[in-house]
Amino acid sequence: MSKFIIQGGKKLEGEVKISGSKNSALPIIAATILNSGKTTLYNVPNIQDVKTMFEIIEDIGGKVTKKNNKIIIDTSNVHTYEIPDNLMRKMRSSVILAGALLGRYKRARFSYPGGCEIGSRPIDLHLKGFEKLGINIKEEFGEIVCNADKIKGTQIHLDFPSVGATENIILASCLAEGKTILTNSAKEPEIEDLIKYLNKMGAKIKGEGTDKIEIEGVTRLAEVSYNIMPDRIEAGTYLIAGAVTGGKIKITNVKPEHIEPLLNKLEEANCELSIGKNYVEIIAPKRIKAVDIKTMPYPGFPTDMQSIFGAMLTTAKGTSIITENIFENRYKYIQELNRMGAKVKIEGRTAIIKGTKRIQGANVIATDLRGGAALIIEALVAKGITQIDNIEYILRGYENIVEKLKQIGAKIYIEK
Ligand code: EPZ
Repeated sequence: MSKFIIQGGKKLEGEVKISGSKNSALPIIAATILNSGKTTLYNVPNIQDVKTMFEIIEDIGGKVTKKNNKIIIDTSNVHTYEIPDNLMRKMRSSVILAGALLGRYKRARFSYPGGCEIGSRPIDLHLKGFEKLGINIKEEFGEIVCNADKIKGTQIHLDFPSVGATENIILASCLAEGKTILTNSAKEPEIEDLIKYLNKMGAKIKGEGTDKIEIEGVTRLAEVSYNIMPDRIEAGTYLIAGAVTGGKIKITNVKPEHIEPLLNKLEEANCELSIGKNYVEIIAPKRIKAVDIKTMPYPGFPTDMQSIFGAMLTTAKGTSIITENIFENRYKYIQELNRMGAKVKIEGRTAIIKGTKRIQGANVIATDLRGGAALIIEALVAKGITQIDNIEYILRGYENIVEKLKQIGAKIYIEK
């Protein structure tokens, strides 16, 4: 496995252009199956998870063509409703293809996505939603087999505002007969982006960004082009890199309204922000002030920023409390931070972070995508050299991260 080698202690200064959103691109790529034709996408991030999704689209008969800054996906020749097991295992979020395959074929067959590094990741809410739409679900030999004579619109209430379940139910009901009303739906910006793309194709969906989404089934969807929204988690990651190193960073090609919860917390931590229509500039204080965060569904503080913000808090003046309310196992990165001198104690869903100035470089191992990003943050502020192993986790979700960090003055390189 490749490693990052990072020399810490440098103030990061300069400008970073944010890439397209991983968590918007993945469901939109799945949704291209619905129109059995072409879709042209712009601002798709060149990251491993997107490459895996393209592999799956081609494996089931689709064609993906890259042309300069656009991706053309042709799904007219998709010939199966089965998601290949080996690719399902490679990326559990490929479960989002189930809704798209059901929307097109009224059938889908896939292996249990299983858990991952941050939790058991059940899909009970996805399957309950499918059943309410009249889809029969059988579980045999570790596979889930879904089929329906017809998919009929209905009322669905989610026990929890699950992002994936909201997306999968929308995809399965776009071409259904009649109207589906989905309540307690997730409100994340990535869902708004998916709905905007589907409506541009001719879907009839209302309520994006709210906890009540109405999907009026239509008979077909057209070929369109679409521009993927900026990645709000990548945006937050670079702001925090500036904050933790006492630097000054301007991120461009962002939607500040998508990262409001984070911006509020950065201001509470004594960072100075200037916010424009599509940029945010941060000037770090001499020393970050300790703040408490609780992760919540959007528009609360995003769970994907928890580890990255937590790394910054290890150097703060005072003690911070983090409460992780979304995933049950999202503190694995902390043992690695403590190897670098951080003083963090975990009590159930809570992490108690006693700020310290003495963070030192060490050999650490990335445990998952955002946990790995947290190790980069820590390494940037540490005295000396840090080696981060298992960086494949990080490369799943951050486009050109080495180039972008070098651009703002970080001393980082990849050791194969
Ligand atoms: C999406 O995951 C994101 N992934 C995650 O980002 C993000 O952390 C998460 O939403 C929350 O914002 C993608 O969009 C590809 P959920 P998802 O369903 O859809 C429980 C990253 O780092 N749950 O909202 O899987 C679940 O166990 C990734 O980019 C059920 O119990 O998240 C979790 O505790 C990590 N039953 C909570 O809900 C279900 O059927 C939130 O999960 C579904 C979920």
